[in-house]
Amino acid sequence: MKALDRLREGMRRDRVFDFMMPKVVFSPELDTRHGPILYLEGVTVSFDGFKALDDLTLYIDDGELRCIIGPNGAGKTTMMDVITGKTRPDSGSVYFGQRIDLLRLSETEIAQGGIGRKFQKPTVFEQHTVFENLELALAGPKGVWATLFARLTPEQRDRIDEVLEIIGLQDQVHRPAGVLSHGQKQWLEIGMLLMQSPRLLLVDEPVAGMTAQETERTAELLTSLAGRHSIVVVEHDMEFVRTIARKVTVLHEGRVLAEGSMDEVQSDPRVVEVYLGE
Ligand SMILES: Nc1ncnc2c1ncn2[C@@H]1O[C@H](COP(=O)(O)OP(=O)(O)OP(=O)(O)O)[C@@H](O)[C@H]1O
Ligand SMILES: [Mg+2]
Repeated sequence: MKALDRLREGMRRDRVFDFMMPKVVFSPELDTRHGPILYLEGVTVSFDGFKALDDLTLYIDDGELRCIIGPNGAGKTTMMDVITGKTRPDSGSVYFGQRIDLLRLSETEIAQGGIGRKFQKPTVFEQHTVFENLELALAGPKGVWATLFARLTPEQRDRIDEVLEIIGLQDQVHRPAGVLSHGQKQWLEIGMLLMQSPRLLLVDEPVAGMTAQETERTAELLTSLAGRHSIVVVEHDMEFVRTIARKVTVLHEGRVLAEGSMDEVQSDPRVVEVYLGE
């Protein structure tokens, strides 16, 4: 026993076997005192020699709502894959706040640590009610079984009510998610992400396939979330982007082509040439 303790102590001291020690996930606090909540610096991702991201540098401020636009294949989705740990870059650095190195964390750790991602296709549990979907989402990634057998605390019930109001589905609370309209499913999924109280929310093409009315409602929803959350929205629907945009980043060939207000980027000749002039 003593020998084993000594061995452990030695391992701890050398730090050579650091990877064998239990790690505390996200031990550094999210630090946004300098402004940005997300730092991407010099990020390059290659697929068989083709650079989907090419030395990309981009900062998102805490609480901001940023729109990212750009032609097909510009690297928008790949950028989200890098932030969420789905794709590892060949080079560059990716930080959540000043101190959390996202490249050292797994996809699950990143999701649990405060970065929520909404994919284009809604992935709600169709046979469960709206309420149950929000309840299941409390557990977060990979924790569904634990929630199914746990009682809700009053705080958790309050949070569900709060989120129902934000996403405007109070009237649908006991209906199975499968009967909701496409737009309502998308809002429910945003609600499920909100159950985790993410600091940063990544939303890829939220209004694709929505009616004009649903699109308008989604604009209101995302706008209302800014401030409390930081939100990155990728979208091709320019009318929608114009409605919600403060600062817009135009990606092209894996790099930032232009950044500024919607008016600024829309009148930028380079942007017109590669994207808006199509
Ligand atoms: N897993 C992969 N393997 C090979 N190539 C890939 C992979 N993922 C993306 N790419 C390529 O990288 C480039 C960037 O793709 P990405 O999906 O990031 O573009 P995007 O800006 O999201 O485009 P869109 O507006 O069409 O969604 C594309 O040329 C794409 O074909
Ligand atoms: Mg995409």
